Amino acid sequence: MSVVGAGGAGSNIVSWIKTKGITGGKLIAINTDAAHLGITKADRRILIGPKLTNGRGCGGYAEKGMQATRESLSEVIKEVHGSNIVFLCAGLGGGTGTGAVQILADEIKRATGALVVGVVTLPFAVERYRYTMAKEALANLQRSCDTVVAIDNNRLTRVAGNLPLQQALGVANELVGQFIKGTTETITTASLINIDFADLTAIMEGRGLAAIGVGYNDGIDRIEQSTRMALDTQLLDVKDMSMAHGALVHVTGGDDITLEEVTRAGELVTRSLPKDVRIVWGARVDPTMKGKARVMVVLTGVESTFGEVKEVAAPIVAEKRRRYFGVF
Ligand code: GTP
Repeated sequence: MSVVGAGGAGSNIVSWIKTKGITGGKLIAINTDAAHLGITKADRRILIGPKLTNGRGCGGYAEKGMQATRESLSEVIKEVHGSNIVFLCAGLGGGTGTGAVQILADEIKRATGALVVGVVTLPFAVERYRYTMAKEALANLQRSCDTVVAIDNNRLTRVAGNLPLQQALGVANELVGQFIKGTTETITTASLINIDFADLTAIMEGRGLAAIGVGYNDGIDRIEQSTRMALDTQLLDVKDMSMAHGALVHVTGGDDITLEEVTRAGELVTRSLPKDVRIVWGARVDPTMKGKARVMVVLTGVESTFGEVKEVAAPIVAEKRRRYFGVF
């Protein structure tokens, strides 16, 4: 299993995962910006397109990001060879990440046959040029990745409240990082309930767009509360949740979490979705989470209104933010 973080945002996500540690996943950061790459934490760092950009970034031009990726393609492909799942991460809207993931999704699929899962953030509506570019890139990625998990920054402000921009982006990095780390380790390590590769493939192969929601609670009904929250706060505007093809439910709790509680999370999601939606679920114990539970629900095969509507995000108070994300 490999994670490729492209551009500034993608590299920051990889750094977050590297700092927390991941079992069974290789972390690769690629960037055209040599200075940023120098401060990125990863198992392997690749400066892409050195001839084209001289290590100075793409200045917001996705076309340049594509060319830089083509220049260094063999180096990147060599690193992901042998992986059965490749996560491709970027913040859409810039040059390097937006260009790189569009090229890599196709090329990695062709060269390795791996399940390719894009994990991207979408820019704020006010970033007009970036927004248009991201919309186009998202449409392309839906065609070439098996699944693209998208987090819309415009929705993020709802749950991250009135945090300064850098901190709000940090929340996005942590969310994406947790999704990748949680999914990977539930497959690669012995967990309370394991997800196997075949299950993940069944809900993610050729599924287009996916939305993600997270809930956290430390009360007596921590599972019910967190699961409802995860279903209610999808970080992408989904047209109709009941149209989803599949759902991945991931539960993390302290060593006091019971199998019964975990089963309840699965049941709650099952009850909220139509009968024919395939649901895969897994659970891990994190000793630092005694008395707490975090539930992540990923809905695959959804349609989004991204780019169709401009919504005004309503900030929420810090307490509610803590409820949603727990550790942030
Ligand atoms: P160039 O700078 O043009 O070479 O492209 P890049 O891919 O490196 O751009 P970058 O990743 O810095 O920014 C792309 C988009 O992601 C922008 O719309 C930013 O608002 C957003 N972004 C920037 N930094 C972060 C981050 O740390 N996390 C997240 N989630 N998004 C970020």
